[in-house]
Order: sequence, then structure tokens, then C-alpha cells
Amino acid sequence: MITPAITGTGVFTPEQVITNDELVAAFNAYAERFNAENAEAIAAGEVEAKAPSSSEFIVNASGIEQRYVMDKTGVLDPEIMHPILRERSNDEPGIMAEIALEACDKALAQAGRDPSEVDLIICAASNHERPYPAVAIEIQKLLGAGGFAFDMNVACSSATFGIQAAADMIRSGSARCAIVVSPEICSGHLEWRDRDCHFIFGDVCTAVLLEPADAAKGAHFIVRSTRCATQFSNNIRNNNGYLRRTRESNMEDRRDMLFVQEGRKVFKEVLPLVSAHISAHLEVESVGSEALKRLWLHQANKAMNDFIGRKVMGRTPTPEEQPNILQDYANTSSAGSIIAFSKFSSDLTAGDLGLICSFGAGYSVGSVLVEKG
Ligand code: COA
Repeated sequence: MITPAITGTGVFTPEQVITNDELVAAFNAYAERFNAENAEAIAAGEVEAKAPSSSEFIVNASGIEQRYVMDKTGVLDPEIMHPILRERSNDEPGIMAEIALEACDKALAQAGRDPSEVDLIICAASNHERPYPAVAIEIQKLLGAGGFAFDMNVACSSATFGIQAAADMIRSGSARCAIVVSPEICSGHLEWRDRDCHFIFGDVCTAVLLEPADAAKGAHFIVRSTRCATQFSNNIRNNNGYLRRTRESNMEDRRDMLFVQEGRKVFKEVLPLVSAHISAHLEVESVGSEALKRLWLHQANKAMNDFIGRKVMGRTPTPEEQPNILQDYANTSSAGSIIAFSKFSSDLTAGDLGLICSFGAGYSVGSVLVEKG
């Protein structure tokens, strides 16, 4: 039986940062304009006035202090309030493929592998910039990889579900050198004019390289096992899709064409789901929580992660045991737990166990139990 291992990871971090204060200043300027422009309708009770946002609320409610984005000028312009990303011609690399290459290069360098050795690429992300050709196949071409490539989307759990798919293929022999790459340009699906969620997301790209453990050239993490679960919920939803043109003509301003969530319900419903999922995964593997050296959790909300950490460990985990990157990156969808894994795993020693776990829309939960090789 072939045992899969993670032999490299890479993180592409955009150059531009938006602090909470910058974000709130832009939002409040937008809200003031909106209220002034709609003063009569607001006074008549026909339109609801926009309330101001605050940095204090954002930090307290989420733990987020800043976020990296591909374009801050559009987001911070009260007249625009979304990123402006140059449209590429069909002959140029798409923006997702471009940032994916940087993350893949880092993962390949860490594993000591040449791109030509890669025989599987899964582009696992919450949003893909077009339906086809698959972004993964574009990455395969730009990288000079062989084999096959495909896109997959399980929202915030895309990366962990992708790792399960790649690990299973390595186990069965249908792939030998696989990359799961997650270009998450979340700024594009966020409604920056909605106070309840305008602070939530950031942009990033992560890549995870998997190979048979006995082929690893250096430090690696054996994938002991993976566990994925889904349960339908409308509490995180985006109705945008290819059928929109076939419906009404005035779809542009429909709020449900971007990320929408019932944040409180998600908080309440996902917590027990994730805690039970992790406990069941560990039980099947006969691993006691005291044996876990590290928890690399999905990065959506600090209070949520603190709760899950306490539930899984039976005590409050130390910041070393459960590292957060949320304060710097915000929620980067499926990439969040992988950023934490990539940045906070090199100190573990042979035999140490850790768990990567993501959760989000679907609902979906994916966990990967790893052992330092
Ligand atoms: N600035 C100031 N006040 C704000 C605000 C903002 N940006 N946004 C909301 N508020 C106010 C609300 O109006 C509300 O006021 P009220 O109590 O007077 O009605 C209050 O703060 C609480 O709002 P609420 O949206 O219920 O906040 P919350 O404490 O639930 O935190 C989230 C919001 C989104 C951070 C939190 O629910 C969360 O993280 N949920 C899980 C999200 C998640 O994991 N999603 C997965 C996405 S992939």
C-alpha cells in the first residue's frame, strides 16, 4: 500500500494590505454618501439608512486586523467598493493561474521537485474565474506539468477535500506527484457595501504537494488519514452562476449574486458539526486528543476557532498548539488552514501528530490527520 505524504507547501501573499481602519473609513464614507443621496426616501421610511462600521467591532467579532487583497484602490473607493482586476485576453495567463504559479513554485522548491514531475493538479477553490477550460489545466500548461488536472469547489473546504482526492489517487497509484492549489480571490465575491460582512475576506493562494512518502526527498508529513463530510445548508450561499442570463435582466444589483451568510446561525450550527467531526476522526484513528501536537484550523472567526480548540483538546490550546493567521489574512476560504499549516509546522519532529481542519459553506467539513515523517 502506498502511503501519501505532504512534501511541500507554498503561500502566495498579495502585496496590498487593507487595515481595518482603512476599510472602515471607506465603508463609512460610502454609507454617508448613500444616506445623503437617499435622504428623502430614508425620511419617508422607504429606504433603510446605512449604519456605520467600526474597527473595534471587527476585531471583537472576528479577530481580523487586516487583509491582503489583489486590488485595494477599487475596494477603498466609496464610489466603487469592489476590486478592479484587469481583464486578461485569452492569450494571457488568467489571474488565478498567475498567483497559483507562485504558490506552486514554492511548494515544488520545498519538495525538491521539478514541475515536469507533477502528474496531477487540482485547482480547489471557492470560486473559479470561468467555467472552462479548467483553471487547473491552464496551471498545468504554464507550469509545464504532465498528467491531468481539474477544478473542484467545496467552498471553504475545497483544499482539504482536494487533499483527500489527491491522497486517495496517490494511494491507488493513479497519481505520483500531485498539487492541490487554492487561489482564493475572495475580494471578488465579497459585497464590500454590506456592513455585516465587509470585513470578512482576504486574498491569497496556497499550494500543497503530495507524493508517496517513500519518495520524499526531505522533511514531510505523512497523511495518516482524511475525513470529509457535508450537510446541506443555505446559511452561506452565493446564487451567481451561468443560468443568471436566462432569468431576469436586472441581476446586477441583486445582493444574492455575491457571498451572503447568516453569520450567527453559521457560528452556532457549524461549531458542533466540526467538533463532532474531529472527535470521530480521531476516534477512528485511535488517536487521543492529548497526542495532537497541533491543530491547523480553518480561519474564519477567532472565537469559533478558540471554541473548537477547547472542545477538541479538552482544555484551552496554547497559541503554539493552535496557530491563528486570521488577524493578518482575514478569512481566505479554503486556503486559511493551509496557510497556518505552511507557516507553523516546520518545528514539529518525527512522529508528531497534527490535524488540518476546514469548514464552511455546504456545510462542509474536511480534516487531514498528518504525522511528521
Ligand atoms: N460594525 C459595527 N457593528 C456591526 C457591524 C460592523 N461592521 N456589523 C454588525 N454590527 C452590529 C450588528 O448591527 C448587530 O447589532 P445589534 O445587536 O444592535 O443588532 C451586532 O453588531 C451583532 O451583529 P452580528 O452580525 O450578529 O455579529 P456577530 O457577533 O454574530 O459577528 C460574524 C458576525 C460574521 C463575525 C460572526 O457571526 C461569524 O464569524 N460567524 C461565522 C462566520 C463563518 O464562519 N462564516 C464562514 C464563511 S466561509
